[in-house]
Amino acid sequence: MKAVVCTRYGPPEVLRLEELATPVPRRNEVRIRILATAVTSSDCYVRGLRLSPAYRLMVRLALGWNAPKQPVLGMVLSGEVDAIGPDARSFDVGDRIFGFDQHRFGTYAQYVCWPEDGLLATRPANLTDEGAAALPYGGLLALSFLRKADVRAGQRVLIYGASGAVGTSAVQLARHLGAQVTGVCSTANVDLVASLGATTVIDYTREDFAEKAARYDLVFDAVGKRKSAAALRRGRQVLAPGGACVSVDDGTPKLRREDLVLLGELATKGEIRPVIDRTYALDDIVEAHRYVDNGHKRGNVVITVT
Ligand SMILES: NC(=O)c1ccc[n+]([C@@H]2O[C@H](COP(=O)([O-])OP(=O)(O)OC[C@H]3O[C@@H](n4cnc5c(N)ncnc54)[C@H](OP(=O)(O)O)[C@@H]3O)[C@@H](O)[C@H]2O)c1
Repeated sequence: MKAVVCTRYGPPEVLRLEELATPVPRRNEVRIRILATAVTSSDCYVRGLRLSPAYRLMVRLALGWNAPKQPVLGMVLSGEVDAIGPDARSFDVGDRIFGFDQHRFGTYAQYVCWPEDGLLATRPANLTDEGAAALPYGGLLALSFLRKADVRAGQRVLIYGASGAVGTSAVQLARHLGAQVTGVCSTANVDLVASLGATTVIDYTREDFAEKAARYDLVFDAVGKRKSAAALRRGRQVLAPGGACVSVDDGTPKLRREDLVLLGELATKGEIRPVIDRTYALDDIVEAHRYVDNGHKRGNVVITVT
């Protein structure tokens, strides 16, 4: 099969297209023929080891010292079940599924084998594979943090960084939970964020949300603390009594299969939609990583696998 291999940690150019043996599913695994994947910001952090020294050490110890021991990166997929292990019962050959695995990787390839009980669910029939590949990363992260913050109907929620993968999902999901959403983003993304359901959009290049009179039950940082630390300090100023300020970098998110199913259902009903910035072919993955490395993508960067 065709696969993209990460030859060592470093710039996007460390990624190389190679021919690898097609994997064979073990007892409880399904083999998925991948039709679309995504280049997530986490993929870029791992590839480039662009992490704090403590995290860099942890990643090297967990994944491999000079290069990932599992050389095929990629955490997200949409595709078709192509073979099943002898004990796998959850899916049949031909099922169209989408999913996420932040530990096993392997989706920058034509095939991957993942456990049947992992984060896999039926792909919404109304989405393309590209659309389905754009849902799990931002959707599962956003749901995990919104749940932890116990967002409820009628609450006022500010999403800082409303135009990224996590941000575009957080705006739509907070809205789905009944919150009144304010999104913060740059000028180019104001219309997008409003179209996702934010009732107010603040352009951070023109206005400082912390200087405004509005108060919030939750300020959710969807950008990540390395860029948002200063803004988060000011975030506390705009909290209503009992309000909370939470970052997507606070702790380990709980990613649940039932939440992936929920994302699929919401997409099927049209209550959320995937936001795709750019689509690349697998052969152009270096270019896709260069783009995501910039840190200003709108929603998701998707890879079509043929
Ligand atoms: N806790 C965990 O385990 C975990 C796991 C995965 C990811 N994360 C975190 O989640 C973060 C977000 O991921 P993502 O994929 O959604 O990122 P992304 O798609 O790259 O989104 C970044 C968004 O942030 C905005 N932005 C960039 N710089 C900004 C700044 N200085 N001030 C305000 N907004 C800024 C950009 O909008 P504009 O172009 O409008 O500026 C862009 O739309 C990651 O960076 C990572 O820190 C945490």
